[in-house]
Amino acid sequence: MIEEKIKNFLNKAVKELRIEPFDFSIEISKEKDYGDYSSNIAMILAKKENKNPLEIASIIKEKIKDKIFEKVEVAGPGFINFFLSDEYLGEELKKVLKEKKEYGCLKRKKKETVIVDYSGVNIAKPFGIGHLRSTVIGQAIYNMYKCLGYKVLGDNHIGDWGTQFGKLIYAIKEWGDKKIQDYSVKDLVSLYIKFHEESEKHPEMINEARQWFERLEKGDKEARRIWKECVKTSLKEFDRVYSMLGINIDMTLGESFYEPMLKDVVEEALEKGVVQKSQGALIIPLKTLPPLMILKSDGSTLYSTRDLAAIRHRVKKFKPSLIIYEVGSEQSLHFKQVFESAELLGWIKKEKLVHVPHGLIRLKTGKMSTRKGEIIFLQDVLEEAVRRAEEIIERKNPDLKEKKKIAKIIGIGAVKYNDLSSHPSTDIIFDWDKILNLEGNSGPYLQYACLRAKKILKKSKTKLVLKKIEFTKKEEKNLARKIQQYPFVLEKAAESFSPNLISNYLFDLSKEFNSFYENIPVLKAEENKSLRLSLVYSASLILEKGLEILGIEVPEEI
Ligand code: ARG
Repeated sequence: MIEEKIKNFLNKAVKELRIEPFDFSIEISKEKDYGDYSSNIAMILAKKENKNPLEIASIIKEKIKDKIFEKVEVAGPGFINFFLSDEYLGEELKKVLKEKKEYGCLKRKKKETVIVDYSGVNIAKPFGIGHLRSTVIGQAIYNMYKCLGYKVLGDNHIGDWGTQFGKLIYAIKEWGDKKIQDYSVKDLVSLYIKFHEESEKHPEMINEARQWFERLEKGDKEARRIWKECVKTSLKEFDRVYSMLGINIDMTLGESFYEPMLKDVVEEALEKGVVQKSQGALIIPLKTLPPLMILKSDGSTLYSTRDLAAIRHRVKKFKPSLIIYEVGSEQSLHFKQVFESAELLGWIKKEKLVHVPHGLIRLKTGKMSTRKGEIIFLQDVLEEAVRRAEEIIERKNPDLKEKKKIAKIIGIGAVKYNDLSSHPSTDIIFDWDKILNLEGNSGPYLQYACLRAKKILKKSKTKLVLKKIEFTKKEEKNLARKIQQYPFVLEKAAESFSPNLISNYLFDLSKEFNSFYENIPVLKAEENKSLRLSLVYSASLILEKGLEILGIEVPEEI
């Protein structure tokens, strides 16, 4: 790995200056003129030693000489910039040709298990565009870790338990007008809303709903039957959305799975002395956070109790080295409390539990039809995406075969890419013009670039053999420089749980590839044809694999 290599050179140089090792970073240079990678090592060192960063940078720079660098320069307030040599770039290119889609993937960490908790849809509630973020980002994180050689387990922690089911059962019993199997999720949502309206006028209903939940908890036949049907109906509907999105989550344990373990969790917390009684409820007091309630005064458990049970179960069963939760940022406090509590209970160090919060999806008003008061259903949004993609195809390439199939790949890919091209924690704007913009940073733009590269290769009859590599045009070298960044980006993206790093890299790669292809001949090249085709091939491989990690398909034709 290039990062390790550069770090080793720098560490060695610092050691020669008899300075204790410390933490510094290697980044991809912001611009080509600043080299391929830069480090802030001299600036950190200067601060520590109270010296001039430029002087320190020059001293370090002088100590670094290796054939992987064309040159090393000092720039700005004390950055050390590394320019990779042609020889190194050539070797990397050979590596891509050899390893193909495995380029950048690691095999070394196979033994470690990572659990990704994502999607987490709720039974009897709509699969809204809010859950789209968790599903799409979670899947990309899953794919990144898999690519880096971890054993990855995806878990859909669905919301299928809790006092709300008492309300729902009450509503079904009271106002239901058909066989339980015949309800749709929309019907269930309406019944639930009705409960809330009516119970404001008749507060005694709340008590009755509570009793229904108690019956459910105790295993009452009728309560269980109704609850089971609601779960079945919802999952069936959700599966349609998952299949449209091309998502398949390894396991769907859900909150109800932990129900039989909740008693043990509470008992263990009592035994270990981490809980306190507070107005009849049980809470876990935390040092710097508000306490976490794990048992209500009426004896019922909570979302948090089930999250604790899930950690306990996962640790015991899978011994994960990391559990990643892709859940909305409004639950940040909840996860901080749960993680801290799990550590207090001695189950796992909280550093091994990571919440990757996502921001909201905002609508560009007037762009998406939201019939008054109605919740937006994800399925409608996805169908609209496909319809809009179809319209574009109809306009641009009406003779295309299999329009429907391709419109689906483009429409869904575009919605996913929109979600993955900004950092998970930022709010994103849902704007059809941007999502399906064929010229900008969008899914279709990347799909098109990838397809273009693949088509060039199809047309070429030349066998790819790379012996001695010499760049004769700056476009060749620029593309090679971009290509070698991929393993670095992949690792950074996984480490920081930021699939957007991959998206934006792929966008840059596409631009670099397009400018390469538009400026120098490839199929008709009179010189360096093999190198040029190898560059095209490498770009196509990385685009395809990168998009695969993001969960985006590439159509056969556009
Ligand atoms: N069902 C929850 C919600 O919609 C998300 C579940 C996230 N995962 C978890 N382990 N709490 O808010």
